[in-house]
Amino acid sequence: MTAPTREPANPRFHKEIVSFTRRGGRLTERQQDAWDDLASTYVLDIPRHTSSTSVDPEFQLDLTETFGREASTIMEIGSGRGEALVHAAHENPDINFLGLEVYIPGVAQALVTMRHLGVTNIRFAIVDAAAALATMLPAASLDELRIWFPDPWHKKRHHKRRLITDDFVPLAARVVKPNGVWRLATDWQEYADQMHEVLLSATGFEYSGVWDERFDDRPITRFEGKGIAAGREIRDLSARRINP
Ligand SMILES: C[S@@+](CC[C@H](N)C(=O)[O-])C[C@H]1O[C@@H](n2cnc3c(N)ncnc32)[C@H](O)[C@@H]1O
Repeated sequence: MTAPTREPANPRFHKEIVSFTRRGGRLTERQQDAWDDLASTYVLDIPRHTSSTSVDPEFQLDLTETFGREASTIMEIGSGRGEALVHAAHENPDINFLGLEVYIPGVAQALVTMRHLGVTNIRFAIVDAAAALATMLPAASLDELRIWFPDPWHKKRHHKRRLITDDFVPLAARVVKPNGVWRLATDWQEYADQMHEVLLSATGFEYSGVWDERFDDRPITRFEGKGIAAGREIRDLSARRINP
């Protein structure tokens, strides 16, 4: 599979607000090698709609076929360079892990680490999470949804680009199984407060209303490390899907 090229700066593709700006960036030699060897196995070939991060709305992923087995499935949105995802997959070989990421060098770096550790229970979808949650994933298909350090979009005029808003709740509720868990973490207090407000009124989820302990199974990712180095507090939150 060839690495998709950078999104053209075409306003047609930006009719809807998205939570990311597409960064290209060259792959290092090691990333390119890993991509050439492993992408056809671990990066899903997704039928597109209007852009290279969209999904054909008719397409639905068959998780059993995708992973070649029936197992619990945990999905991480914005897996970045795969630090948390590859670690979790390595620690939990009986669980299927799905990573959604639009940053191709990040996915390639995750493939490098997967190869190094011999991890095989991850698949990546290079796709806008909003589209994936709306149509690509079967309803009630995830045991857990993780979103670690989503882009905080600090400036007030950019807040509309944040992933975690009230509009995201029905998307999460569609894909998380009854009793499944939705986990979040951020180093940006004002975004943590927004997440808290979103979870407090999240239809279909049960939320304790207090910050969680730091999630044990997450290594310190690059973004978490930057937050800590800057003296920011890390906030973990979670909510449980109730039986509809
Ligand atoms: C701030 S980084 C955090 C990466 C990683 N979770 C970590 O802790 O190091 C946020 C990531 O989310 C990805 N992202 C943002 N919006 C997304 C979307 N709608 N669908 C998929 N990935 C997205 C970005 O490309 C970026 O890699």
